[in-house]
Formats: sequence, C-alpha cells, structure tokens
Amino acid sequence: EKGGYDYFMLKEIAEQPRAVADTLLGRIDPSGSLTLDEVRISPSELREIDKVVIVACGTAFHAGLIAKYAIEHWTRIPCEVELASEFRYRDPILDGRSLVIAISQSGETMDTLMALRHAREQGSKVLAICNTNGSTIPRESDAVLYTHAGPEVAVASTKAFLTQLVACYLVALYLGQVRGTKWGDEIQAVIKDLSRISEEVERVLETMEPVRALARTLAAKNTVLFLGRHVGYPVALEGALKLKELAYMHAEGFAAGELKHGPIALIEEDVPVVVVVPSPRGRSVIHDKIVSNIQEIRARGARTIVIAEEGDEAVVPYADHLIRIPATPTLLQPLVATVPLQVFACELATARGNEVDQPRNLAKSVTVE
Ligand code: F6R
Repeated sequence: EKGGYDYFMLKEIAEQPRAVADTLLGRIDPSGSLTLDEVRISPSELREIDKVVIVACGTAFHAGLIAKYAIEHWTRIPCEVELASEFRYRDPILDGRSLVIAISQSGETMDTLMALRHAREQGSKVLAICNTNGSTIPRESDAVLYTHAGPEVAVASTKAFLTQLVACYLVALYLGQVRGTKWGDEIQAVIKDLSRISEEVERVLETMEPVRALARTLAAKNTVLFLGRHVGYPVALEGALKLKELAYMHAEGFAAGELKHGPIALIEEDVPVVVVVPSPRGRSVIHDKIVSNIQEIRARGARTIVIAEEGDEAVVPYADHLIRIPATPTLLQPLVATVPLQVFACELATARGNEVDQPRNLAKSVTVE
C-alpha cells in the first residue's frame, strides 16, 4: 500500500506532480478561462464581495498566507488570513459581503469548523477548500472546491498542501475573472504557467538526493532556522513546521526583513539557516535584499542552505549548500520551493530514528478544539 516506499510520506511527496495536475484537471478550459462548477456562490454575489477572510490551521494556514498574496495581487480585494483557533474569539468584522475561505485537508478540523460556523452566523458566504469528499467542513459550507490530492495518510501534510495552493490560485484567478479585473493578459499567462507546474514539481523531485545527503549531516543539530520573504516567508514557516513535527527539532521561520529586528541574535557558529530566495526576475529588489541577508548571516557564522532559482548566480558566493529549483513566476514559487523542505524534514526524521508517518503526540485530524 506504500507503493514500494518506506513511508507514506515519501509516497505522498512523490505523488505531488500527479496531485497538482489532478487539482487543475477540468478546471481550465482550452480557451484559458476557468470553470469552477463546484462554486455555488453566483458570479453576481462574488462581484459584491468586499473582503476575503481565510481561516485554517497548521499547514493549511500556510497555504492561506500564500493565497493572500495571490488574491490581493490578482483581484485587488483585501484579504486577511487568520488561524482558525483565534478567529471567532476576537469578534471579527464580517457581513454578507465577506467571503470566508476555510482550508482543510481533512474537512474535520474542529477549530476550522467552528470558525466557519461563526462566519455563517454573521451572514458571510463560506467557500471550503478541502481534500476529503463529503466531510463536515464542505457539508457546512456554501460552496466547495475539492483538492484532488487523493487520501493523505502520513500525519505531516505534503501533497495536500501543494493542492491547497493550486486551489487557492484557482479561486484567486476565478475571482479576478468574474470581477473582470483589468489585466486579463497577466491572468492568461499565469494559467499557462500553472498548467506546466506539475512538470516543474517533477523536475524538483528528480534532484532531491543532495538534499537528503545534506539532511543526514545535520541530524545532531538542535536548531534550524528558515528565512523567506514575500511568498517565501510562508514557505519558511512551512519548512519549520515540517521539521518540528517530524524531526522534533527546534525550528523557526522568519521573514528575512525581520532579521535585524531580533532574530539575527540567534545566529551563531554553524547554525543551519535555510533561505528561500525569491526570483531575481520581477521583484528584483527583494531578491537583492535577501542576498545581503544571506551575506550578513554567513558573516556571523551561519551555515547557509540556499534554495534559489536555476540561473540565479548572485547567491552562489554565499551559499554553503545550494538547492536549485526551476524558474517560476514569483507567486507560484511556493509550489516548487516547498518540495525540498518536505524532503529535508522527512530525511532528518529518518536520520534521527523518528516515526515518519506517525510523529509523537500528533493526530491526522484534530477533531477537538
Ligand atoms: C502539518 C499538519 C497540520 C494540519 C492541520 C490542519 O503537517 O498536517 O498542521 O495541516 O492540523 O489540518 P486540516 O488541513 O485537516 O484542517
């Protein structure tokens, strides 16, 4: 049942190209426009939306953080992202013009369910992004967009995360489409890039052996830090979460711009720091800033593990270890940048003798608040 892999997690990591393709399947028609027929909130209702609020927990929350960049950029609708467990307790401002998106692999997470119930009580429409057909969260939502990752058995979420991202991009593009956002050309280009992304994920998977070898050399470390910027920041958070839950190591993700506001004090001799580098094309300002962050931490002794696009030569002098990912548009980069972090955490867990599929103290679906 593990299809020849030692762990479900490895199998599920390997299934990601297929999972991503399946989530896209049938949702982009040949002319390049989007059909989301499971969205039962009418286009006229979607045109009235004045705010999007995403609620989720854990890895799904990280997908939501990335979605915010895409939704605001492509639709110009303000978007908030909140941990589902915090949401209803602070009396959030919601009404009939708010669209609440609940992201959940299992569809049974109690925190997320309670958040969506609260949103519906305030008269908001709720759209679920979910991987489990007929589960509670989609049943209680106004609309659902299923991710087609297939069953995810390993406790640590991998393929569900990538497909949640794809679903979020589809929702963002769809909102842009029904609201007639003006730069249709950019949207068409993104749709094209999305339809190629499964092959890019496959290419990343083919180059993971050095990442495994690197992970094994770090098995005795106590701490690993992760830095990112823009959509790379939630990717850093996700890399840290995977390492905590699987390797039981202290791991933290930071926004690279925050380094100088405190975290840089943590940098000491030989501490591994994983840096997710944005594309040098497009938003080159943040790229240059990250390169100087890498320089700074390396000067303070950090062991730099740099995840950067193919062809990005600026990082080479400062990378103790360089992990290459294919060039992708900035907003889509998390789909390729997350994969090495999953492999890294899985291999570290194995090297430390941990139970990969069933980490201590954790359950696959958390049905209590
Ligand atoms: C991390 C992980 C958890 C879940 C979280 C939400 O690898 O699996 O953080 O992402 O418990 O679960 P769902 O998506 O089922 O609501």
